Amino acid sequence: MATPTPHNAAHEGQIAKTVLMPGDPLRAKYVADHYLENVECFNTVRNMFGYTGTYNGKPISVMGGGMGIPSIGIYSYELYNFYDVDAIIRIGSAGGLAPQVQLRDLVIGMGACTDSNYAAQYRLPGTYAPIADYGLLRRAVESAEKLGVPTHVGNVLSADVFYNDDPTVNERWAGMGVLAVEMESAGLYMNAARAGKKALCVCTISDLPLTGASLPADERQTSFTQMMEVALSLA
Ligand code: ADE
Repeated sequence: MATPTPHNAAHEGQIAKTVLMPGDPLRAKYVADHYLENVECFNTVRNMFGYTGTYNGKPISVMGGGMGIPSIGIYSYELYNFYDVDAIIRIGSAGGLAPQVQLRDLVIGMGACTDSNYAAQYRLPGTYAPIADYGLLRRAVESAEKLGVPTHVGNVLSADVFYNDDPTVNERWAGMGVLAVEMESAGLYMNAARAGKKALCVCTISDLPLTGASLPADERQTSFTQMMEVALSLA
């Protein structure tokens, strides 16, 4: 498919090889405004803002991916397959499920379970296990350790349903050692695998669905900053 696409107005060469992808496009704008230099906006279609700039002299892009696997599925597919992007790092929030995971901690998704049917398109004779790129994962963990941020590495759940009719569902995933629930990583990891590209998900814990605890808005910003520093170190 030629570029631009129905969802992305960028022309070839306008997007860097590494893209940071928050769910919220206004977060993408915030990252571009506060962390990047020489910034150019490449997309405003559907207000899903995308920017390319430099960080420590290296080109990097940041673009919103929306909420849920169908949304990140579209944007990441196009970046990998039509814009020749090598790596997408999802940065976002997640609900902590495992007892050791606390508000403000970082969770890095080594693997992503899902209740989504996204993998059905590949017609595999079994269950696919979506995983992060090991090189990105290792570098992110090293960077988080240097920053001294409490970090957990393991499985996340990429859920299709936020307001689940079954209140026990998160407990059952927690019973399988799943660290946190979010809504995108599994789709991103599958798109990366199919395209032969790299992906990673770094999440800050904004709430604990099993206890009902959640971070106030101002504290979300501090956790976001720590997560950003980890993600930008991968540029
Ligand atoms: N993102 C942040 N918190 C979440 C939760 N509790 N469930 C799904 N996605 C989330």
